[in-house]
Amino acid sequence: MKTDIKNRNDLSKLVHSFYDKIRVNDEIGPFFNETIRDWDEHLEKLTDFWESNLFAVRKYYGNPPQAHVEVDQKFHHTVNPDIFGLWLNLWFETLEELFEGEHVETLKFRARKMGTVFMMAIYENRKQNPYDSTAQTNV
Ligand code: HEM
Repeated sequence: MKTDIKNRNDLSKLVHSFYDKIRVNDEIGPFFNETIRDWDEHLEKLTDFWESNLFAVRKYYGNPPQAHVEVDQKFHHTVNPDIFGLWLNLWFETLEELFEGEHVETLKFRARKMGTVFMMAIYENRKQNPYDSTAQTNV
């Protein structure tokens, strides 16, 4: 029987299963596989991120909107809402495969909100840097 997410160990399991799906996905995988050098470190960081988010501990101190702005720059402005939709679908799917309960719903809701915030940061950055000759204008 599935239970709710109870602790860091559960989040670590979630994060590992999720990125297993991400890495082999033809559409979204390349963004990660061409950026992340040390997967163990990345998965540890993402576990810190979600633990800080869900259980209010202070372990993650990064700047996720800025990280995604930089990914969008690196990939010549090809990060778009469809890619975020794909990310969210895999996130929901993994959450539902492994767990059920209130924390599952919280993590769906929070990721959806973050997706909007990150995409807006990406659009803002494109407006502020309009002279990138490789930029796609069809935002
Ligand atoms: C709402 C959805 C998403 C959430 C919650 C999320 C969360 C995160 C977080 C917390 C980090 C670590 C940032 C740091 O270094 O401190 C990260 C990194 C990263 N994300 Fe996302 N992400 C989301 C969507 C996406 C999408 C759609 C892509 C595809 C382009 C993506 C690509 C990446 C990559 C490549 C990194 C590594 C950046 C680096 O280490 O330089 N993310 N993400």
